[in-house]
Amino acid sequence: MKKLITTVLLGCAMITAGAQSKDSKMDRFIDELMNKMTIEEKIGQLNLPGSGDIVTGQAKNSDIAGKIKRGQVGGLFNIKGVEKIKDVQRVAVEESRLGIPLIFGMDVIHGYETVFPIPLGLSCSWDMEAIEKSARIAATEASADGICWTFSPMVDISRDPRWGRVSEGNGEDPYLGGQIAKAMVRGYQGTGDKTFTTNNQIMSCVKHYALYGAGEAGRDYNTVDMSHQRMYSEYFYPYQAAVEAGVGSVMASFNEVDGVPATANRWLMTEVLRNQWGFNGFVVTDFTGIAEMVDHGIGDLQTVSARALNAGIDMDMVAEGFLTTIKKSFDEGKVTKAEIDLACRRILEAKYKLGLFSDPYKYCDVSRVKKEVYAPEHRQLARKIAAESFVLLKNDNNLLPLSKKGTIAVVGPLGNTKENMPGTWSVAADFNKATTVVDGLKSVVGNKANVVYAKGSNLTTDPVLEDRATMFDRSLKRDDRTEEELRNEALQIAKNADVIVATLGESSEYSGESSSRSEIGIPDVQQRLLMELLKTGKPVVLVLFTGRPLTLTWENENVPAILNVWFGGTEAAYAIGDVLFGDVNPSGKLTTTFPQNVGQIPLYYNHKNTGRPLAEGKWFEKFRSNYLDVSNDPVYPFGYGLSYSQFDYSDVTLSSTAIDSNGELTASITVTNKGKMDGKEVVQFYIRDIVGSVTRPVKELKGFEKIFLKAGEAKTVTFKITPELLKFYNYDLNYVFELGDFDVMIGGNSRDVKSAKFTLK
Ligand code: NOJ
Repeated sequence: MKKLITTVLLGCAMITAGAQSKDSKMDRFIDELMNKMTIEEKIGQLNLPGSGDIVTGQAKNSDIAGKIKRGQVGGLFNIKGVEKIKDVQRVAVEESRLGIPLIFGMDVIHGYETVFPIPLGLSCSWDMEAIEKSARIAATEASADGICWTFSPMVDISRDPRWGRVSEGNGEDPYLGGQIAKAMVRGYQGTGDKTFTTNNQIMSCVKHYALYGAGEAGRDYNTVDMSHQRMYSEYFYPYQAAVEAGVGSVMASFNEVDGVPATANRWLMTEVLRNQWGFNGFVVTDFTGIAEMVDHGIGDLQTVSARALNAGIDMDMVAEGFLTTIKKSFDEGKVTKAEIDLACRRILEAKYKLGLFSDPYKYCDVSRVKKEVYAPEHRQLARKIAAESFVLLKNDNNLLPLSKKGTIAVVGPLGNTKENMPGTWSVAADFNKATTVVDGLKSVVGNKANVVYAKGSNLTTDPVLEDRATMFDRSLKRDDRTEEELRNEALQIAKNADVIVATLGESSEYSGESSSRSEIGIPDVQQRLLMELLKTGKPVVLVLFTGRPLTLTWENENVPAILNVWFGGTEAAYAIGDVLFGDVNPSGKLTTTFPQNVGQIPLYYNHKNTGRPLAEGKWFEKFRSNYLDVSNDPVYPFGYGLSYSQFDYSDVTLSSTAIDSNGELTASITVTNKGKMDGKEVVQFYIRDIVGSVTRPVKELKGFEKIFLKAGEAKTVTFKITPELLKFYNYDLNYVFELGDFDVMIGGNSRDVKSAKFTLK
């Protein structure tokens, strides 16, 4: 075993206070205010009802105005419209005894009215600047409409595409997820002493802490059971990164952790989050998270509410467990005054930091909406970013890009719908403003080509399933005609077309919250349609809509070109045109593995080697870790994505083949654009720690750079390697590096890499 270098102990290593320093002026202000507050009013600050305007859960709150007047509300969420918000704020400020302003939250997940790609899509851009800008614009629009707090970013690592909420996260890699978490927080809040200085910076809420993406069998809200080793090594970093970036709030997850629901888990909420990571904002539950612990089976409402407060929860979303039981628990000695005070103080601090005590109407400038919401410059950027999120999965014989000429037949249930375009969790979007694929393509080709459309099929054979997958006014207007009638109409227009663009896959609510699937292929009737379209012999481009990795084994073998467009937001249709016709060269790379079938799940690139790995080049051997009926390979690996250019990678050059524990070395590679088009490439840098005191993954992403190369151009990309980069959590959960040999791997995806070796001496 290698010699162990313990640099720091976990407890103190992680404290990075960042923006979370002490402010004595704020302390004095809050001390004075709290001196005037009754215990009931303090408990009132911990209550977060839902407005009922936008539905994101089953329960409802009542008599909200009355509660605000009585000082029983700290904030309100998912209410849309600055005029309305201003009115409600007026009630709090003018009609409650102490006039404490409310905080107004919303699920502004990937844009407001200008909608950006779903987070999974956005992550495939690997473009931190673009991601930060998307959050900046979302904050600008939301704040122009009265919102000062967003329940974003969602940073749950997930390796299970059955889970519908993979659409809302950043894929399977903790390092990349951490970089994205930081970019989003910066975009929403600003950084350092520039945080919340303007009225278009809003408070961010990282969620769902913790491990929500690891629910058993991909079923939403399901049990999580995981070793601490895995939590720290593979799942925690994105939450911690958000804390490092100064995130103002954290949302607790629904699932249990170590047998205790996260919402009542003191180790998670206080020991890890606050003591180890140095978080000092406030923690809100998820929707009815407190009341749900009754069903988890850890007590009645009073018990679970007290346990949540004891654990370190500050605000109760919707359940009203705090509001209705904490006073009683206080009287009975089950919670202390100090605990109530602490939670109340944290909420008041958030309001203070946002500037609401200086101006409760800071976010209620009603003149902003018209200029700032859905502004042309926001939409322009959203179009650019959408194109960057698309992943070209296949392009035989350079079928793409298409020429702007002849007749283009758009076929499929997702080709002529506005409602579907913004994607799941776009609660502020005005669906009427989105553009259909057909209209987007028409706008891009102008009068140079003829775009025709036929639906070709419904979303699924099963109308009940289709209903569930098109909730929240997302209906695809199910067609009463038979499968054959619909298909024949499509084949008719296909016959006279030069190329078929098949717009197939999931509808936006086919993934998202409470949209887990046990089969993750393109739905039945659509796949049959695709087969028939291919039989015409015409070139077929599959424009794939999806909120999760799908099993595309058959499609990969049979369809010549596949462009995965996720759900690209309000401007997606134009962006699809930009990429299909080559005005933009695709550069998206997958941040999640696409398995061959459901049985392989969980399938992820940074797995362990096991004691019985397959030999190179083999896909089955008896008594090895494999399946009888399918190889261990994915259809598309993490990091994968094609371009209309081809990028050539040189060998890796190391500045030295050995470093000591104070040293550093560099790994360089030269990338050449061998294609005819200018293009962008995401150069990915992985490391393998070959021998460890605990088993290590076969590779881990440690860096990346997205570069632009003109046709024929070459660039050298260099990554720095220091012992710090080689640290990991050992058996005792100390964050350490160990001496020994390492592989460096650099490439355009996690599978196809060039490698070199060095030693840490
Ligand atoms: C439940 C979801 O899990 C969470 O992500 C969301 O922010 C809340 N509902 C509020 O809508």
